[in-house]
Amino acid sequence: MGDDDNIRTEIRSLISSLPSDADFQGAKIYNYQGCWYRNFALQAVIDFQRNFKPTDTDIILASYPKSGTTWAKALTVALLERSVGGSCNNHPLASGSPHMLVPFFELDLYRKSPEPDLTKFPSSPRVFSTHMPLHTLRQPLMNAPCKIVYMCRNVKDVLVSRWHFYAKMAKKEVERSDLESMVESFCRGVHYFGPFWDSVLSYWRGSLEDPEHVLFMKYEDLKAEPCAQVMRLAEFLGCPFSQEEKRGGSVEKILELCSFGNLSSFDVNQTGTHNIFFRKGEVDDWKNHLTTEMQKKIDMVIQEKFQGSGLEF
Ligand code: A3P
Repeated sequence: MGDDDNIRTEIRSLISSLPSDADFQGAKIYNYQGCWYRNFALQAVIDFQRNFKPTDTDIILASYPKSGTTWAKALTVALLERSVGGSCNNHPLASGSPHMLVPFFELDLYRKSPEPDLTKFPSSPRVFSTHMPLHTLRQPLMNAPCKIVYMCRNVKDVLVSRWHFYAKMAKKEVERSDLESMVESFCRGVHYFGPFWDSVLSYWRGSLEDPEHVLFMKYEDLKAEPCAQVMRLAEFLGCPFSQEEKRGGSVEKILELCSFGNLSSFDVNQTGTHNIFFRKGEVDDWKNHLTTEMQKKIDMVIQEKFQGSGLEF
């Protein structure tokens, strides 16, 4: 079946009027509101914008793919569920993968239906996720006081993680030529959910303008100071740790529950398509894969795009 076969006629004509290009695999991508999408995701983005009705307590976990979305989902579920506590086997995370518990707007909910029934949403507050940039969420959120958490990661680790992810999806070994094409398309800013810098900067600026509703987190900070960062996340989500919880080791229990080793060991995350979201979970793995030339190229683009933003990579 071709890429266009599941796209509704009305959306197809809208899509065909948009600028298009090809991603590193040669798949056609379309630029909508400054972001590149494959057509099925774009149909879902448009349906989301038309039909989503926010509630005041909604939580949205946003990221550029391969930045630690799975980890952010697990931590958020664990923080909201923490009365259950610890790494016990009946915790929702033991039976549902983070991606089942926190669906994507454009890759799950609105991909399956233009108007998904969100009244039976499994969690309260509702927790959603997305790879869309912040400006694409603005109109459907209609100033609702939702909490938005953005997870950012070093672009070089994102690239290497994506490279492995694509190889796993394609059920093949990683190939250097793919990495080279990915770096190329990354630096051009023409890639699925890219440009990377627009995704990051939209949420970075959003967090500076409205820190009460947009929290900007970094994968590397979570690794370096996990307790402080998870307490920051809890505070932002409106479920801070009490002194009693802190004394009782609740922060550490949540970190252990959501640690790479523990989370990836659950049966649900070892089966089906869920295991592709777990690889190494380390900082600076790019040093093992990128050539000096690739590094320099990426550094130049990053320096140019982030200059003056106040954001350090
Ligand atoms: P690596 O490929 O570098 O190992 P996403 O969830 O946005 O798709 O990102 C996937 C990346 O996050 C992968 O990185 C994966 O291994 C890592 N990851 C998944 N779960 C994690 C966890 N609990 N703690 C730390 N990293 C995790």
